Amino acid sequence: MNKTKGAEGPVTILAIESSCDETSCAICRDGEILSNVIAGQKVHEQYGGVVPELASRAHLQNIVPVVDMALKKAGCELTSLTAIAFTQSPGLIGSLLVGSQFAKSLALSLDIPLLAVHHMQAHVLANLIPQAKPSFPFLCLTVSGGHTQIVLAISPLQMEVIGETLDDAAGEAFDKSAKLLGLPYPGGPLIDKYAREGNASKYNFPEPQIPGLNFSFSGLKTAILYFLQEQTGQDPDFIQKNLPDICASIQGRIISILLNKLKKAAKQTGVRDLCIAGGVSANSGLREAFRELGKQQGWNTFIPPFEYCTDNAGMIAITAYHKYLAGEETPLSVSASARAEW
Ligand code: KG4
Ligand code: ZN
Repeated sequence: MNKTKGAEGPVTILAIESSCDETSCAICRDGEILSNVIAGQKVHEQYGGVVPELASRAHLQNIVPVVDMALKKAGCELTSLTAIAFTQSPGLIGSLLVGSQFAKSLALSLDIPLLAVHHMQAHVLANLIPQAKPSFPFLCLTVSGGHTQIVLAISPLQMEVIGETLDDAAGEAFDKSAKLLGLPYPGGPLIDKYAREGNASKYNFPEPQIPGLNFSFSGLKTAILYFLQEQTGQDPDFIQKNLPDICASIQGRIISILLNKLKKAAKQTGVRDLCIAGGVSANSGLREAFRELGKQQGWNTFIPPFEYCTDNAGMIAITAYHKYLAGEETPLSVSASARAEW
């Protein structure tokens, strides 16, 4: 049976994202996001990182109210939905299972198509949500807590990873540096906040020399550790006295590592439309430096609004919309997967 409703009415998609520690639901009609509700999980702060089992339990508690709120905000009834989308991979398996089982049950009970979405592809396509969109082919620097990639997007559903991290992700570099500075998890936004008051050229952390378009952040983390050990050995209050300058210098180096590779990728591919995406693209220093570099290089630059940078179901919905237009449908036998393969 072909359950696709066809071209007679609007295409309304309900999407669920639950890959890590945000429970989110969005409603998208004909490619426009009508609502994007995101519930974070404070429970992890005290542990200095996401605790997978606690994340799954929080998703179970949050998912019904989040879906309900997304429908209400969009002014949408369950009966007017065309398809249900969900994040299938990658992520924490327990978290993914909550979203995927919920989505499958909803699609089954409403007798409408199910669409599985790859989380990293969705981060890239978050750039198609605003009015001003990049033209294909475009390059996207996708920087999150688990990934750092340069993606060549040839069309909405055709993408190639042309560079990626060999060890830590950019978000991990932020969060692990923050931890060394005694800041709570997730430290990325806090480094961003303190860096605004600091001098980025005060301390010089090394830029790794990795061939090609790949990244490495583990050496930076070690360099910061040794630097802080040495400085606090001489003055135990060193961090407290110099926090803005330390944060600005760490952030400055992470940004230069990211943007130097992006510049190289643009030269190699000849692509002129460039985007950033993922949680770290919420970083104010990266946004500013990316726009500045774009002006220098003559690129057209695109950055999703804040709510579509960190994990959100809006990006899952827009990706599912393109899959729906392409005639894709996922069988109910699909299972969630923690692994990152595209
Ligand atoms: O995409 P995301 O929400 O979740 C993953 O899929 O990982 O990214 C989360 C990451 C965390 O490492 C967090 O510290 C980082 O994004 N992040 C930031 C900022 N906001 C979020 N890093 C630096 N500056 C920010 N303003
Ligand atoms: Zn993400």
